[in-house]
Amino acid sequence: MKVFEANISYQTLSILRDVLSRIDNYKSANNKMVDCFSIHNFFDTQTEYELFLNAISVIETIALESDRAEYGDFQTNSDLAKSVTQLLKSQKKANPKVIIEPTCGKGNFIIAALSTFDSLEKIIGIEIYKPYTWETKFNIIDFYTTNPTESKPEIEINHFNVFDFDFKSLLNKSEDEILILGNPPWVTNSKLSSLESSNLPQKSNFKKHNGFDAITGKGNFDIGEYITLMMLDAFHTSRGNLAFLVKNSVIKNILFDQNLKKYRIAEIDKYNIDSKKEFGVSVDAALLFCNFNAQPEFSCKEFDFYQPTTAAKEFGWVVDKFVSNVDLYRLNHNADGVCQFEWRQGIKHDLSSIMELERNHNQFVNGKGEEIEIEEDLVFGLLKSSDLKKIVLNQPRKFTIITQKKIGQDTSFIKHSLPKTYDYLHKNKQYFDQRKSSIYNNKPDFSIFGIGDYSFLPFKVAISGLYKTYHFSLILPLEEKPIMLDDTCYFLSFNSLDFAVYTLILLNSKKTKEFLKAITFSDAKRTFTKEVLMRIDLYKLAIEFQVENLETEIHSLNAIYSLNVCSERWKDFVVALEPKKVSKQMQLF
Ligand SMILES: C[S@@+](CC[C@H](N)C(=O)[O-])C[C@H]1O[C@@H](n2cnc3c(N)ncnc32)[C@H](O)[C@@H]1O
Repeated sequence: MKVFEANISYQTLSILRDVLSRIDNYKSANNKMVDCFSIHNFFDTQTEYELFLNAISVIETIALESDRAEYGDFQTNSDLAKSVTQLLKSQKKANPKVIIEPTCGKGNFIIAALSTFDSLEKIIGIEIYKPYTWETKFNIIDFYTTNPTESKPEIEINHFNVFDFDFKSLLNKSEDEILILGNPPWVTNSKLSSLESSNLPQKSNFKKHNGFDAITGKGNFDIGEYITLMMLDAFHTSRGNLAFLVKNSVIKNILFDQNLKKYRIAEIDKYNIDSKKEFGVSVDAALLFCNFNAQPEFSCKEFDFYQPTTAAKEFGWVVDKFVSNVDLYRLNHNADGVCQFEWRQGIKHDLSSIMELERNHNQFVNGKGEEIEIEEDLVFGLLKSSDLKKIVLNQPRKFTIITQKKIGQDTSFIKHSLPKTYDYLHKNKQYFDQRKSSIYNNKPDFSIFGIGDYSFLPFKVAISGLYKTYHFSLILPLEEKPIMLDDTCYFLSFNSLDFAVYTLILLNSKKTKEFLKAITFSDAKRTFTKEVLMRIDLYKLAIEFQVENLETEIHSLNAIYSLNVCSERWKDFVVALEPKKVSKQMQLF
């Protein structure tokens, strides 16, 4: 059954009919609701009260669910809310007097708090969606009806936009223990802009990202993150705690920003939940907990919410480095530095159906299954993330057309020198012109990105940015042409096979693997990025690497892949990596 689009139980409905039966005035009705259930300001106006009386006499059984996407609406189920409050009570010894639920939805956290904490004096809920404010109030009445002996703290459920709410006005002077509890919306600002929603803080570019970050996705943030920061801003110097269910990415960002913000928060813990089971969605999420008014801390211990006794690991800041595993990082921190070679991302063309080809009995076939006739000049082997499984590769599954040698290079030469290639590209020009990314605007026809002199060096050492396998591959040329990688891969390129093999061995060493495990986050969209890979200090790895191990590794690569490499140039390699030579590094290869 629904009243004002809010679910209501038959029990609460008949109680409300009974309690309000002879009351005409909304102020008297409000007093009655305080007497019975300690809920303040139950009705906002006389008109609303009259509509309400009408609604509970003529019950709506069907109400349209409005589209809730812009409100990041994932209501916490009652069992999970109760497990959270019990964990707070038993593990964290939380005993709040005041609870603030900044986006309280249907009120499951408020009910869980009422049934768990016995010293509560005040509960404040805020919610933008009016039917939920009703449902929260109905749920509270239901709770008291089923549990008549429970004490009744003062409760206010505010129909309000959290971004306009003045939380600082709630700062309590009596130093009562506060608990900020809840599950703020799970929706990103870019999703909101695609919905043309205004459910955003006024200063929505709160991270001050620039336009380029917006293109690369760095300017994308969850509004749950903004609300968490609002709470920390308002309450970090109060006595109490925060306990929020949020996406893992939000917790990671809060910890990342803690180095600058230095909130007075400590005992920062993350309890991983099974979001598929709890919310029916595949998003990594967890309960974020912290204590307020403490010496600032900069790392977070990670637990399993369902078996929270021992921490699985700790992530956060180790001095000036942000890492995913503090212990592992401490053991391998000496690999951290600046890579002597520049990591590059592979080719980007956003048009695989036209630009990616397969070779079928000497005939090229494009992604649409069309057999195509082009000169071989601009055709290069192509490897994608899923191809980078072996240690050494020289047989691509696919091919691609490389229309430029440098970003922005004029492509008019194709028409004169390679007429068949031009015909094919020109026939499909409309698809090139329809590419959405703004990087293609005002660029020569058939432009590609992720291309430069480095793309044409014969030997590459590559890794997939997408997979969580800490494994690098050596890419050899095919018929004297370098093989290209797509933009899901990152690579270093070399003129010398020896140097490529030495680099491969260092990158596949246990030390590098553990170092990368310590600095990469398993829930990142891309495990490996240029930023991460540029932290691998090859010089520091090389000077520690035992020459006997190098020889064993070279021997086994030679035996399997007939590379014919020897360790003779290792010394030159180490000298080339020496910090003083960094500036001219790429020219050496
Ligand atoms: C993830 S749900 C969680 C609800 C509740 N905290 C719980 O744990 O069940 C997020 C809630 O935030 C509410 N919400 C979204 N934007 C809001 C805003 N600007 N101000 C207040 N509430 C908002 C949604 O309507 C929704 O009820």
